[in-house]
Amino acid sequence: MSLTEKTKIIEAKNLVKKYGELTAVDGISFHVNAGEFFGFLGPNGAGKTTTMKMIYGFSPVSQGELKIFGMSPQDDLRNIKRKIGVAPQDMSLDPDLTVIQNLQIFARYFDLTKEQTEKKCEELLNFFHLKEKATQPIDHLSGGMKRRLLVARALINDPEILILDEPTTGLDPQSRRVMWERLDDLKKKGVTILLTTHYMDEAEELCDRIVVIDYGKIIEEGNPKQLIQKHGVKNLEDLFLKLTGKGLRD
Ligand SMILES: Nc1ncnc2c1ncn2[C@@H]1O[C@H](COP(=O)(O)OP(=O)(O)OP(=O)(O)O)[C@@H](O)[C@H]1O
Ligand SMILES: [Mg+2]
Repeated sequence: MSLTEKTKIIEAKNLVKKYGELTAVDGISFHVNAGEFFGFLGPNGAGKTTTMKMIYGFSPVSQGELKIFGMSPQDDLRNIKRKIGVAPQDMSLDPDLTVIQNLQIFARYFDLTKEQTEKKCEELLNFFHLKEKATQPIDHLSGGMKRRLLVARALINDPEILILDEPTTGLDPQSRRVMWERLDDLKKKGVTILLTTHYMDEAEELCDRIVVIDYGKIIEEGNPKQLIQKHGVKNLEDLFLKLTGKGLRD
């Protein structure tokens, strides 16, 4: 394969997720290229988190095909997991541990040595401006710090794919900017990033490509700026409302 040829790092074909009677993801097809910043947009309950959970193997695929690094989560979950980092939507930090212990425990899951763990923790705490908080318990952190720690933890295994489910929800504009800068740094290092966000300015700023999901189906996809032009709207928020309507979902 030539260097200019894009490598499909994730490929989904007619992907379906059913929870009993409910079809949460209803036959979506998409691919993510290596090194891409890819956004999943959609109203509450659209199926974004469910899609991400299938990608990181937390939730089994009901129907369709899903390949990550050419492997199926059903058959090769261990190999896939080694190369993926996840910051889930729900704050899953351990409140009984300190900041650094939350990182160390994850390092153990990935079999890092003591030296590797020390080095990685130091690097990540610096990268996310959490050094001074290293020995503090989680409940001493602000919301922004917790979100940064969640992303730091997702990076403990130097993942090739970073999955971020609403990493900036509830953050002030300053904290959001810090997060954006860090994510931009990671993209420059070649990390493939999957992002879910309800902040349309964020998706416009960060994403190379987006898909808009509604009621479990992809209703639009492409580069944010090109989509804005195509639909003749002012910005991504207007496009989002044009596509998904103004009715409440939850
Ligand atoms: N474990 C589960 N069991 C049953 N239904 C579920 C489960 N998880 C999600 N759902 C349902 O699946 C649908 C999609 O949920 P999902 O969490 O993927 O939405 P989302 O797009 O991430 O929404 P949000 O923006 O609110 O986070 C919703 O109707 C939700 O209620
Ligand atoms: Mg969600």
